[in-house]
Amino acid sequence: MNRLELLQPYPFERLRALFSGTTPNEKLRPINLSIGEPKHDTPAIVQQALLENLHGLSLYPATKGLPGLRNTLADWIKTRFKAEINPETQVLPVLGSREALFAFAQVVLDAHEPGGFVAFPNPFYQIYEGAALLGGAQPLYLNIQAETGLPDLSELAKQDLSRVHLLYVCSPNNPTGAVFTQSNWQTLFDLAEKHHFVIASDECYSEIYLDEDNPPLGALQAASQLGRPDFKNLLVFSSLSKRSNAPGLRSGFVAGDADWIAKFCATAPTTARPCLLPFKKQA
Ligand SMILES: Cc1ncc(COP(=O)(O)O)c(C=O)c1O
Repeated sequence: MNRLELLQPYPFERLRALFSGTTPNEKLRPINLSIGEPKHDTPAIVQQALLENLHGLSLYPATKGLPGLRNTLADWIKTRFKAEINPETQVLPVLGSREALFAFAQVVLDAHEPGGFVAFPNPFYQIYEGAALLGGAQPLYLNIQAETGLPDLSELAKQDLSRVHLLYVCSPNNPTGAVFTQSNWQTLFDLAEKHHFVIASDECYSEIYLDEDNPPLGALQAASQLGRPDFKNLLVFSSLSKRSNAPGLRSGFVAGDADWIAKFCATAPTTARPCLLPFKKQA
């Protein structure tokens, strides 16, 4: 079967079809539960940086991104996650995390015979499933537990992990908001090490939290604290889309295992923005 035919329609398309012919009650204020789009303007500092760098549009950006951008990203990772990242080898700017999440699976799966597994939480951000199917792998759905809002890692441990090549995790989780603890990360790192699979940690929502004193733990932070500073078989995916109200900018980064970053970079799926966006927290 053609792999494209395996893809499910996007849930929003299905919703649109279900809603067609329905007229909402005009007296009620609708709550839009469809695509997760920021509801505020892109901050002026981002708009200004873009305007000031329009001259860069006449140039092709380097696949690795500008050194200044990589340094800025590494600095931010250090401040936010207390993790040391080599800006030369361990971080790569990408054109949106969705695209990177998809492309990275193709890189990982290329090293394996078709038919292996890509595991991810269920419910899930749909790109994980599409990336698995188009990469010739089978999805392995890890149901999210009602009590924790996280996938059941003991279920994962019961699987034949020799056939799992890639595991997506999403922390803070979409849709539950639950965050992996250090002990969850310890379990995952141990399993990944033992069974040689790669962890793709989707941290698109890492900067959206209520308690200013306790930002969510990230995978790079957990790996550093657990004595794994080389981030072997771990890649984190981050994005400006949600944290900076800028999904139209298509700007994010991947960071972690230098070997995977090098392989990913060789496929050139990603190019840096022609301007250096300040990765500072907004007041
Ligand atoms: C869990 C999750 N990951 C990644 C993304 C992709 O964000 P972007 O491609 O804009 O960086 C989204 C967007 O909705 C998301 O919900």
